Amino acid sequence: MDPAEPSPLKARPPLDLVVVSVEAAATGVISLELAAPGAAALPEWAPGAHIDLHLPSGLVRSYSLHGDPRERGAYHVAVLNAPDGRGGSAEVHRIAAPGVAVRASAPRNAFALEQASHYLFLAGGIGVTPLLAMAREVSRRGAKWTFVYGGRSRDHMAFLDALSALPGGELRVVPQDEAGLPDLAPAFAALPAGAAAYCCGPSGMLDAAVAIGEQTRPDIPVRLERFVAPPAPADLGEDQGFEVELARSGITVTVPPGVSVLDAVRAEIPGVMSSCEQGICSSCETAVLAGVPDHRDSVLTAKEHAANDYMMICVSRALTARLILDL
Ligand code: FES
Repeated sequence: MDPAEPSPLKARPPLDLVVVSVEAAATGVISLELAAPGAAALPEWAPGAHIDLHLPSGLVRSYSLHGDPRERGAYHVAVLNAPDGRGGSAEVHRIAAPGVAVRASAPRNAFALEQASHYLFLAGGIGVTPLLAMAREVSRRGAKWTFVYGGRSRDHMAFLDALSALPGGELRVVPQDEAGLPDLAPAFAALPAGAAAYCCGPSGMLDAAVAIGEQTRPDIPVRLERFVAPPAPADLGEDQGFEVELARSGITVTVPPGVSVLDAVRAEIPGVMSSCEQGICSSCETAVLAGVPDHRDSVLTAKEHAANDYMMICVSRALTARLILDL
């Protein structure tokens, strides 16, 4: 990467926000409007971006922005209360009320829209959130789009009205209790050359999108945003230990097999940021100054992996005996 070119994921200072309003968006889903005190303009973002919310318990959770990026006074996130989740979304539901202060990261975008002749959006459940912002943007530009939206039932599917109101595209709503799972093959088959697919939802849907895309339309890039990390490849082999030099802190830490860089660093520098700790959110993104990372995340693109400028220290390791990180 050109050093003058800022990373799209580069960390910016945290934001102190206030909950302005809380609305029910679907069964089990609330939508929060967040603003800076005094209604100051918030940092810019583009569709596909997310923010991390720092919850009172200490949990940090990432949520996609689903509002309109041209509205600089507020961010909108939607949170599904997942009873079998890791506790973050349940906490958001518990504390969300107008006037509640919440610290958030500035927006980061690991799921950005790229130029295409036609956009295929594949949403499953709460995965609709980044794709709603994308469809709004694409619709505003006058580009062509198809949106396939699956969910348990209509009352569990947020933002149906907002999607239905977008002009210029085709929306296919597929509630599972009425129509089963979305049939993705015809959606891929109908795409013109130069199209791109964006998919966010449960792992089964993402895996199906990748498999069907590869089988039927290998020319179409399929971009994913995951809720959970995909299974690790079977051929990773035994973890090796290595050393990490923290350039700004002047400390060197040893990362033994079975311990993440994040945990090893935290033993020396508590408070290093993380959220998913599965390599899917980019909260722990760290600049690499020397050495070669063994990238194991699902956030950076193949090109970004090859550049070795940044790594996700919650999951990625080292191919060299030593890494030097900008920490
Ligand atoms: S904490 Fe989410 S990618 Fe590392």
